[in-house]
Amino acid sequence: MRKKLVVGNWKMHGNRASNAALLAGLREAGPWSADVAVCVPFPYIAETALALTGQAIAFGAQDCSAHEQGAFTGEVSSAMLADLGCRYVIVGHSERRAFHAESDQLVADKAKAALAHGVTPIVCVGETLAEREAGQTETVVKRQLAAVIHTLTHCIGEIVLAYEPVWAIGTGLTASPEQAQSVHAVLRKQLQAATQKADAMRILYGGSVKPDNAAQLFAMPDIDGGLIGGAALKAGDFSVICRAAA
Ligand code: 13P
Repeated sequence: MRKKLVVGNWKMHGNRASNAALLAGLREAGPWSADVAVCVPFPYIAETALALTGQAIAFGAQDCSAHEQGAFTGEVSSAMLADLGCRYVIVGHSERRAFHAESDQLVADKAKAALAHGVTPIVCVGETLAEREAGQTETVVKRQLAAVIHTLTHCIGEIVLAYEPVWAIGTGLTASPEQAQSVHAVLRKQLQAATQKADAMRILYGGSVKPDNAAQLFAMPDIDGGLIGGAALKAGDFSVICRAAA
């Protein structure tokens, strides 16, 4: 039985005061029976760590460098994330693939760098609206995952995978539970072919998950929780979503 995981992706939102209020709200709202984490902007990781001391809420980052260290101005290494106590790092979010031209191979290299430092990569895959309408959903997500499988080889069982259809992110358009389930089943089959551990791996759904649709999504057999954007910025909404992942 896989334990559900709900991760808040704060993206580039918040400030010290609003973060403190949000984290205080989460401390009050928990605990939940699912695993819960927040992935916060780099400058706020250390304060988040302090605010969550002794709490059953994990934290992490939204990206990391594929490099170990060196002359890479502006980059943050996975060793640094581990040093700060990060449990997770999101890699390959569609916003980074689209706005920072991240390739499948770069995403895979970032996942490898994270694992090397004991930080669990949450690897995002997902198709655009044009790709879905062209009937390419499976081809696209399988290609994105294949690069990670090829690069991580026997360590693939240690990642968390997130299916985030690009057309559902921040749009209010959610994949139906059936649409999401069918892609999750494809991804789990692909993972199973690469590792015997796919039954124990968590595949999250992301894209306009809200308090009123979370339970139906999380009830699907291959949906093991969610990666939450907008609704993760309100303690009340995020808490309802975490509770829906029982
Ligand atoms: P929204 O929940 O705002 O659609 O964002 C989803 C997402 O991109 C999480 O990584």
